[in-house]
Amino acid sequence: MLLRATLLVSFGLIASAAPAGAQLLTVDHPGQYTQEDIARGSLLYNAQCFACHGRDGDQISGVDLRRGQFRRAQSDEDLAQTITRGTPGGMPPFKLDPAELTGIVAFIRAGFDTSASVKVGSAARGKSLFDGKGECATCHRVAGRGPRKAPDLSDIGLARAPAMLERSVRDPSSALQPINRPVRIVTADGTTIRGRRLNEDTHTVQIIDDRERLLSIPKKGLRSFDVITESAMPAYAGKLSDDEIADIVAFLLTLRRQ
Ligand code: HEC
Ligand code: HEC
Repeated sequence: MLLRATLLVSFGLIASAAPAGAQLLTVDHPGQYTQEDIARGSLLYNAQCFACHGRDGDQISGVDLRRGQFRRAQSDEDLAQTITRGTPGGMPPFKLDPAELTGIVAFIRAGFDTSASVKVGSAARGKSLFDGKGECATCHRVAGRGPRKAPDLSDIGLARAPAMLERSVRDPSSALQPINRPVRIVTADGTTIRGRRLNEDTHTVQIIDDRERLLSIPKKGLRSFDVITESAMPAYAGKLSDDEIADIVAFLLTLRRQ
């Protein structure tokens, strides 16, 4: 297999440039992996996980390893625990050494992409871009400030790996998490409701509408219920330079409310 992975992470830059109050990244920050980690994880995945989770990691319902969708796990630590301890729901425990475990988590967090190339720049510059030129703060809430029409990013640095964050900024539609999807609902009386899906069960769908109201809507009798697969977020691939995107990724990684 030809592996072209380059994960360019400049720890020094981030640590020295992180905004005051933000938790500083350290070298053992989960979510920062080497090319070797990802490659090791890829081999291990094919040998031990493939049979149940499938080539694209989506063979178990409610779990999509490649796209970062899990039933419970949030942090890298949760993933490692699931893998070493197993779950009552049928995930067997695995005995892995620390390097193997780091590798498999890295492979999952890199979106199964052994050629993932992620550049992490300056968090301080990233914060300015987030609040200024990038206009991210006009949609996203961080640490209790900002609107609710887009996901709250206060702990996004814990929840997502650099590769996934970069993909979210460059090309949001390709990184869309199923649970965040925009929906358009037409009720029995013809009212159209637009919003973002927060949760869904057999009978109701919970959304936050475009006026920031939390609504629980019974599905029975709806005229239509469309889940939109196109992101409501603009793609920044052509709007910001690669260096600017790297700075924003660095800033997002500092958002780690516990
Ligand atoms: C025998 C089948 C099987 C094998 C082999 C297997 N898994 Fe799983 N895995 C499952 C099942 C079933 C679930 C859902 C369990 C649950 O929700 O309790 C799951 C869930 C998971 C989850 C999601 C946890 C969550 O919070 O949703 C992760 C991550 C995971 N597996 C990783 C792996 C990795 C990595 C390997 C290889 C080292 C692996 N699995 C091998 C069956 C398997
Ligand atoms: C017009 C509103 C809007 C703007 C501007 C915007 N976003 Fe988003 N963003 C969204 C929405 C809505 C989502 C939820 C998923 C979707 O619809 O794509 C999202 C999703 C995300 C996610 C993924 C969240 C997750 O749970 O994985 C990240 C990361 C993100 N945005 C970062 C940014 C950054 C950084 C900027 C500025 C460069 C930005 N966004 C600008 C609306 C916006």
